[in-house]
Amino acid sequence: MGIRATGHGPRIMSHSDIHTPVMLERCVELLAPALAQPGAVLVDATEGMGGHSEALLERFPDIRLIGLDRDTDALRIAGERLARFGDRVTLVHTVYDGIADAVASAGVSRIDGVLFDLGVSSLQLDEAARGFAYAQDAPLDMRMDQTAGTTAADIVATYGEGDLRRIFERYGEEKLAGRYARAIIAARADAPIERTGRLVDILIAATPAAVQREGRGHPAKRVFQALRIEVNAELAVLDRAIPASMDLLRVGGRIVVMSYQSLEDRLVKRVFADASSSTAPAGLPVELPEHAPRFRLLVKGAELASDEEKERNPRATPVRLRAAERVREAA
Ligand SMILES: C[S@@+](CC[C@H](N)C(=O)[O-])C[C@H]1O[C@@H](n2cnc3c(N)ncnc32)[C@H](O)[C@@H]1O
Repeated sequence: MGIRATGHGPRIMSHSDIHTPVMLERCVELLAPALAQPGAVLVDATEGMGGHSEALLERFPDIRLIGLDRDTDALRIAGERLARFGDRVTLVHTVYDGIADAVASAGVSRIDGVLFDLGVSSLQLDEAARGFAYAQDAPLDMRMDQTAGTTAADIVATYGEGDLRRIFERYGEEKLAGRYARAIIAARADAPIERTGRLVDILIAATPAAVQREGRGHPAKRVFQALRIEVNAELAVLDRAIPASMDLLRVGGRIVVMSYQSLEDRLVKRVFADASSSTAPAGLPVELPEHAPRFRLLVKGAELASDEEKERNPRATPVRLRAAERVREAA
């Protein structure tokens, strides 16, 4: 049981309440061939509340699991949930680009499977005080690891107009990036922007009525996504973590990644495409073994959740799943 504070006092939630794992059956199916032998090691790089981990530990009674998360609250909840699996589970507080160190410190050299279920957890979104949600007024924080780093309020207070515009464009794909950056600079000259509610008001006031009628979603949606990505350096970390985790896989080992926004999915697609392509120089008549691809793709393009799952679990609506298997050692 996890105990979580809500606006109405503590509410005791059963673990099945708090998170329905996305595309769980597909993850099990894709990882199964790699987890078949006794003692196989699976890394859940985004432990969250342990939904995927719990199901995988149940389905594969001989595997060992190393779970990573940068959020200490998530690790505490996952720890309670997975306690019954005893020493089959090792949880590590780390950003996932620290996967190689985390695996080594657990006494493991090669892994058989790795799962990434990217983004924020429902715990983080529902916990108003974390500042991830534009629908709830809270301190403008957005750190996944509350023990370290810069908050969204720090960014909004200190970045120049050009930098704000750049992150809104790049990480939010926001068409009104320049207008929003200017509005923030003007508003912070009056008073610091320390709460999500004030930032939302500034963004709404800066959005032309005609744009609001276009149905592009809430005016704050893309700016909040951009700030979250910047606060947590999400893309830079992912760009290091996916190749690092692929390097740890033994031949026959498998990686499954679920992304919830296009920037992450494009990055995963590029890394997978590189790893599954021949590196033979153009014009070479015969491919040498060291030029052969190290991975093969297990799904064509990106796979989506079924309509039935999307209806049951709206969190599955934007998911894009990609998976690959290691087919040879590095040269
Ligand atoms: C969508 S949730 C995972 C949910 C999990 N699969 C489950 O079934 O409960 C994503 C988790 O990844 C964590 N996370 C996101 N980025 C991370 C990073 N760079 N390093 C480590 N953990 C990260 C978040 O803190 C969050 O707990």
